[in-house]
Amino acid sequence: MLPIRIAPSILSADFGRLAEEVAAIETADYVHVDVMDGHFVPNLTIGPVVIEAVRRATKLPLDVHLMIEDADRWVATYAKAGADIIGVHAEAAHHLHRTVGQIRDLGKLPCVVLNPSTPLQHIEWVLRDIHSVLIMSVNPGFGGQSFIPSALEKIALLRRMIDERGYTVEIEVDGGIKVDNVDLVVQAGANVIVSGSGVFGTKDYAATIAELRRRGEAARAR
Ligand code: DX5
Ligand code: ZN
Repeated sequence: MLPIRIAPSILSADFGRLAEEVAAIETADYVHVDVMDGHFVPNLTIGPVVIEAVRRATKLPLDVHLMIEDADRWVATYAKAGADIIGVHAEAAHHLHRTVGQIRDLGKLPCVVLNPSTPLQHIEWVLRDIHSVLIMSVNPGFGGQSFIPSALEKIALLRRMIDERGYTVEIEVDGGIKVDNVDLVVQAGANVIVSGSGVFGTKDYAATIAELRRRGEAARAR
């Protein structure tokens, strides 16, 4: 069984003290970085230069979530900037299979992201080639939104799809997850937990990361 991994989203960090904020989550497993282009989503965040700065500030793998149009044109840039896992939205890739192959050829781990309304069928024929599927449990664009409950059924269906085929693919979930609902997403079958405001909105990030991990592992043992 894949380990529970905690991936704080720096979208809710203090960008004026980004290196310090990243250093303060070193007990996590991944640093989740949200790249938004103002077109694919109605918000604009950061690009490769800031990813390079985050890369210098931590040894943790960078889980880069691209919420951008034409992701295939950009994956090489983000790989070079220091991304380890590169997540592309199925809705933003015209040739998803090719984009996944590009990420592999760059020596990085491909992740495919699905919006709340996008069916699982979109990933069926790339499932064998990818490292992870990211199920959005909010509509992408902003931190601090409420968890969309239908994500739980989607995670459970995806878990079954992966297990039936005998693949090893991580299921990541992103949006509205905090210590009080992490058990639900883990019980449904997710193992990578993204949390932005759920970590950076608390006083002691390390304690929150430990609690997310503890509750996630407990939910799995149940
Ligand atoms: C939303 C981003 C998320 C966001 C999650 O578009 O993809 O990673 O930071 O924030 P919370 O955990 O606050 O919902
Ligand atoms: Zn994200």
